[in-house]
Amino acid sequence: MFSIVACIGKNRELGKKGELVFHIKDDMKFFRETTTGHKIVMGRKTWESLPGKLPNRTNIVISSKDLEGPDEIIHDLDDFIESYKNSEEEIFVIGGGKIYAEFLPVTSKMYLTEVDAEDIAADTFFPDFDKNEFVQTIIKEGKENDLAFTISEYTKK
Ligand SMILES: NC(=O)c1ccc[n+]([C@@H]2O[C@H](COP(=O)([O-])OP(=O)(O)OC[C@H]3O[C@@H](n4cnc5c(N)ncnc54)[C@H](OP(=O)(O)O)[C@@H]3O)[C@@H](O)[C@H]2O)c1
Repeated sequence: MFSIVACIGKNRELGKKGELVFHIKDDMKFFRETTTGHKIVMGRKTWESLPGKLPNRTNIVISSKDLEGPDEIIHDLDDFIESYKNSEEEIFVIGGGKIYAEFLPVTSKMYLTEVDAEDIAADTFFPDFDKNEFVQTIIKEGKENDLAFTISEYTKK
């Protein structure tokens, strides 16, 4: 099964100029704790935004290119989705915008940090989705550097 993990703004802002829009320590901590020990899947641009491999996780990168560094490179997305969509193993889809859009139709769970702020400079967005298709369970609400946020688990009905 695939689970999405993302941090989004009021307009579903995800990134700008290859970087994250929001930097919230509690979100980073939640991300680390949720994904550690698991397979994480990301697009080539998100991979390039990282300082290197995320430790203690199997780093899988989707790209048409051959890259140095990831644990696994996937060229055929459909084949990868077919292999894992019905498996019991939880595979974490960690972005970015293109990858979330491709995985959303086959995702059973989303862990979303929703930040109550916008950024007009954002250039990458989470895909539009219908909240009525999911059951929301709030995991944590907080405020950091004037940024109010809610971390929720959304499970497909
Ligand atoms: N807020 C958050 O939670 C969060 C999380 C992650 C990322 N981000 C941000 O999102 C931005 C990056 O997102 P993005 O949408 O620009 O890029 P992305 O989704 O990270 O990567 C896109 C790349 O993935 C590869 N790819 C995607 N679909 C493919 C397919 N079907 N087959 C083969 N390769 C495929 C392609 O790589 P090739 O060009 O190499 O073929 C494509 O250029 C950054 O600003 C990052 O900081 C935010």
